[in-house]
Amino acid sequence: MRILVTGGLGFIGSHVVDKLRDRGFNVRVYDLKNGSKPEGVELYNASLLDVETLRIAMNGVDALYHLAAVADVNDVVADPSYAEMINVRGTLNVLEAARRAGVRRVIYGSTTWVYSECPGDLVDEETSPLPPKHLYTTTKLTSELYCRSYQQMYGLETTILRYGIPFGPRARGSTVVALFVQKALCGERLTVAGDGSQFRKFIYVEDLAEGNVLALHSAARNRIYNLDGAEKITIRQIAETVNRLLGPIAIEFGPSRPGDFGGKEVSSERAKKELSWSPRVSFEEGVRRYIEWLRRNNAAQVSSGWASVDRILAARTA
Ligand SMILES: NC(=O)c1ccc[n+]([C@@H]2O[C@H](COP(=O)([O-])OP(=O)(O)OC[C@H]3O[C@@H](n4cnc5c(N)ncnc54)[C@H](O)[C@@H]3O)[C@@H](O)[C@H]2O)c1
Repeated sequence: MRILVTGGLGFIGSHVVDKLRDRGFNVRVYDLKNGSKPEGVELYNASLLDVETLRIAMNGVDALYHLAAVADVNDVVADPSYAEMINVRGTLNVLEAARRAGVRRVIYGSTTWVYSECPGDLVDEETSPLPPKHLYTTTKLTSELYCRSYQQMYGLETTILRYGIPFGPRARGSTVVALFVQKALCGERLTVAGDGSQFRKFIYVEDLAEGNVLALHSAARNRIYNLDGAEKITIRQIAETVNRLLGPIAIEFGPSRPGDFGGKEVSSERAKKELSWSPRVSFEEGVRRYIEWLRRNNAAQVSSGWASVDRILAARTA
């Protein structure tokens, strides 16, 4: 069975590729990035806007994961027009190429942010998303709607996965876990807004990748699943976890930020029942693995000046 992963050189996509390859699937990656080719994988280095190459890449493909996107919300805010082109038109291009090539299943990587405007503290897949405020979420929800139309109009099987906030090896440096770890490695104090009681659920990226693989199951045909973390983690706990693993690090509490939201609980019960999926890696273990990865691969990049040199060198040799 041949599986295509768009965005397969990215943070989440690369872990999905690893898990698929470990299961013995024949994996093909479609990505714009000039990254190195993962072992045992075919690579198409092209854009979602290149419909001809997309068409060729779909040849002989049975199922595909569509994860390529402008995924950093800051990039979306900086250039909404480009984000729309990639996240919306790009999805349409993928669906259309898949339809024409006779691909059986498209699994789309969406976000739990589609619930942002829903009332109440607890949401699940039966909760209808309301029109989003954020442009990024608008592009993701639009793509979900395109998946639904292709399913209804052309019988293309689709599965929509709504991811929580992933963390772990290969993460971008701009997420809160990555930022706290990098600050700690540079010997800088960690600043928590307010009393730090605002919570999020974080999903360890390899657990998330496993959920993606399980979504190939026939039960997941034309279904939507939330894939979110199991533990509620407060911002204060993130700082304390980083302190336990890398400390002693000073933690200071600043004023609350206006508009900080208390957090919405997203249920992943459906994925547990229908796909036997649940996260296995605890938050602390996930942070430990992230630090290990950072030390192995990236330590030099977290330097923010001479003040941190000793700490970085210590981290590299530890
Ligand atoms: N990281 C998160 O917090 C998060 C949360 C929920 C959902 N998602 C969704 O998961 C998916 C993967 O996100 P990620 O965090 O791995 O992002 P990422 O930026 O690490 O990976 C995205 C990949 O897409 C590729 N790409 C971008 N534009 C492309 C184009 N025009 N043509 C071909 N490839 C292109 C990039 O080169 C990159 O390798 C995205 O669809 C994102 O919206 C991410």
